[in-house]
Amino acid sequence: MLKFSSISIKGYKFKRKLDRCIKLPKRALGLYREYFRDANKLLKYYMYGSDKRKSIEYKILMDVHSLEKGMCMTTETSFGYKKCQNLLFHLNLYNEMYSKFVESSTPFLMGVAILVRWIEISEERGWSKTQVYLTVKKWIEANPYSLKSVRVGSYLHEYNPDNRDYDAIIRSRATSRLYSNRPLTTEDIEACVELTLSTPSACNRQMCKIYSFSNQSKKDKLSSVLTGTTGLDKQNIHYFVITYDIAALGGVGERNQGYFNSGLFAMNFVNSLHSRGIGTCFMQFDSTVKLENKLKLDLGISDDERIAVAIGAGYYLDESIIPCSQRKRVNEILVMDE
Ligand SMILES: Cc1cc2nc3c(=O)[nH]c(=O)nc-3n(C[C@H](O)[C@H](O)[C@H](O)COP(=O)(O)O)c2cc1C
Repeated sequence: MLKFSSISIKGYKFKRKLDRCIKLPKRALGLYREYFRDANKLLKYYMYGSDKRKSIEYKILMDVHSLEKGMCMTTETSFGYKKCQNLLFHLNLYNEMYSKFVESSTPFLMGVAILVRWIEISEERGWSKTQVYLTVKKWIEANPYSLKSVRVGSYLHEYNPDNRDYDAIIRSRATSRLYSNRPLTTEDIEACVELTLSTPSACNRQMCKIYSFSNQSKKDKLSSVLTGTTGLDKQNIHYFVITYDIAALGGVGERNQGYFNSGLFAMNFVNSLHSRGIGTCFMQFDSTVKLENKLKLDLGISDDERIAVAIGAGYYLDESIIPCSQRKRVNEILVMDE
């Protein structure tokens, strides 16, 4: 580490040159090693690499999503033949490999429900003469599942301009590092997770999970691994860890999809907690694949998930002093075209 108070600009420049020769190659090697390990993890667990239950569920969710998009279009031309065939294949595969889960799997039931809806639309619009229609219809008749718990297809969304509560929630959130000694209630946690489920995800794959930790030894493990814990109330803190499932990723073009989806998910979760009087602090950790593997073992997180971020949380104190964290101006970050 350079001590700026005791070094001249000339000395600083010389040291910089030396760093470039010695430290840079070492850093580059470390970087390539991490990307290599990331690539190995992706190849080991990604969606098309296996027929695990959740891999098939992700494929079903993607098929459902495609069909729902088709159902939102006002076009009078028929759609979805290939998707229906894909979906039938995946539903049959799921049924064959994991039959005991079919009644309780939301993705599976969504897959069936979207086919039912597709049949209804085909009949309404007079597209019921095709082979795919007949195949799907026959399949549905042979597989009568209860679909009460799932809502699929399209609906009319109406915007209410009078409801501006969102602004207040967004503007009043600030990172909180000190917390009340009152433990978070399961009721509050579940309500916030339920709200967070409304977060969008790529093709509605819903690849993120929230792990909740109130146990002191697990909290201590997290506190020891996380890097920015200065000023944090490590006693009263409740930790959450947001992960994403590698099995949801479709390949190399999606290698950052998990982190992006986790970011959206985590932010909604934090805002939901805030709206119920729970302060939070996002926590980064100096992530290497090795360290992450160890942490996952310690916390009981499966190897095919990646840790995106940790969140410290607790009920707000009546008052606490926090950094101003001034934001840039709109014109510093908004780039308009001409
Ligand atoms: C991804 C991420 C990681 C963060 N990591 C830490 C951390 O390790 N320690 C900490 O005290 N704050 C952490 N923060 C909180 C930021 O310092 C804080 O969000 C920022 O200064 C803006 O302040 P505000 O949240 O009060 O608006 C993190 C925030 C984000 C989004």
